[in-house]
Amino acid sequence: MQFLHQLISVAFLKLVLANVQSWPPIPYIVHPSAGKGLGMFATHDLEAGDIIMRETPPLKIIPPEFIKNSGYPMSEVTKLVRREFEKLSKQEQDEIMSLTYHGTTAEIATVDKLGIIFRTNAYNSGTEIGLFPKIARINHSCRPNASYYWSDKLNKRIVFVYRKIEKGEEIFVSYIPLLMTQEERQKRLDRYGFKCTCDACSQEREAKAASDERRNTIQKAFVDFEPQLTLTPPKTQKGRQQARKNAKASLQLIELLHQEGLTDYFAKAYRTAAFCHARVQDWEPAAIWANKGYELKYMEDPDSWHTQELHNLTSNFIANWEEELKRKAQQQMHK
Ligand SMILES: *[C@@H]1O[C@H](CO)[C@@H](O)[C@H](O)[C@H]1NC(C)=O
Ligand SMILES: *[C@@H]1O[C@H](CO)[C@@H](O)[C@H](O)[C@H]1NC(C)=O
Ligand SMILES: *[C@@H]1O[C@H](CO)[C@@H](O)[C@H](O)[C@H]1NC(C)=O
Ligand SMILES: [Zn+2]
Repeated sequence: MQFLHQLISVAFLKLVLANVQSWPPIPYIVHPSAGKGLGMFATHDLEAGDIIMRETPPLKIIPPEFIKNSGYPMSEVTKLVRREFEKLSKQEQDEIMSLTYHGTTAEIATVDKLGIIFRTNAYNSGTEIGLFPKIARINHSCRPNASYYWSDKLNKRIVFVYRKIEKGEEIFVSYIPLLMTQEERQKRLDRYGFKCTCDACSQEREAKAASDERRNTIQKAFVDFEPQLTLTPPKTQKGRQQARKNAKASLQLIELLHQEGLTDYFAKAYRTAAFCHARVQDWEPAAIWANKGYELKYMEDPDSWHTQELHNLTSNFIANWEEELKRKAQQQMHK
């Protein structure tokens, strides 16, 4: 128990320190990646939780109304973007105009290029949409080792390392949801105008089929688990049996994610395992999984609702675990 408390506080301290650390050294460099245009590379070894960059969008718009099946009306967006763009310095404008973009030949001939650049590179940022010229240089992988989130409070998008990246390795994030087959992913990526050649997409056929199957299974498992993620213990014998099965299945889900290397989804799976074990009152694994989820969520965004929730669950499960140990010790004494 003591150990777990220590574990939590050490992880906490490490993350706090990581967040106040300043640089230089700048952890990344942008240069051409073999035959693939520009990419972003680590200038030294990076550990999980390290922050690669925080970027304030020089250009942000409040989007017009989203139209179902067709998205934001391009002409209106372009007008808004153009208005903001005119307020920027020459240097900022040049940086934006040098970003890659993807559009049909007809579009490129007729539409303001700035609008196409914005569509290719912008991110939802709270209720607005922002352009992040530095982050836009990070390429996509369907098995990324970095991720990002938007912080309303800081008005910045923050890119952090999800698993160890060695010096010289390219840094990748994902532009799309990843629990889909390769074909479905490529369809999503078409709007960015490239064929994905990441580790996952360039595997030989059999390995790719196995990867597709794992991703489908994981997606289905998340959907199936969703209604079971409560703390109410099952009332019937049958319910209890099902809950025990779920606890086992949640560990298989984690195993599949590890096999597939999908770090972006680890926290969600750990949370699932925490709930599943809590429902069968197996407090030790419940506490451990909740804590693992908490560490990842904290790394992502210390202030988010999800981080708080996992913090609360961890404390709650540790308390139950302590109770259980005390009860057992007393039973021993009375024997
Ligand atoms: C990486 O991104 C650059 C644009 O920043 C693009 O030109 C290049 O094709 C991308 N490479 C891959 C492999 O996606
Ligand atoms: C980081 O991700 C890329 C793309 O999946 C991969 O090539 C590279 O080996 C990864 N690095 C580590 C240390 O996992
Ligand atoms: C976590 O617990 C605190 C204190 O009990 C509470 O105020 C907060 O609403 C809880 N947050 C979540 C997300 O469960
Ligand atoms: Zn890919």
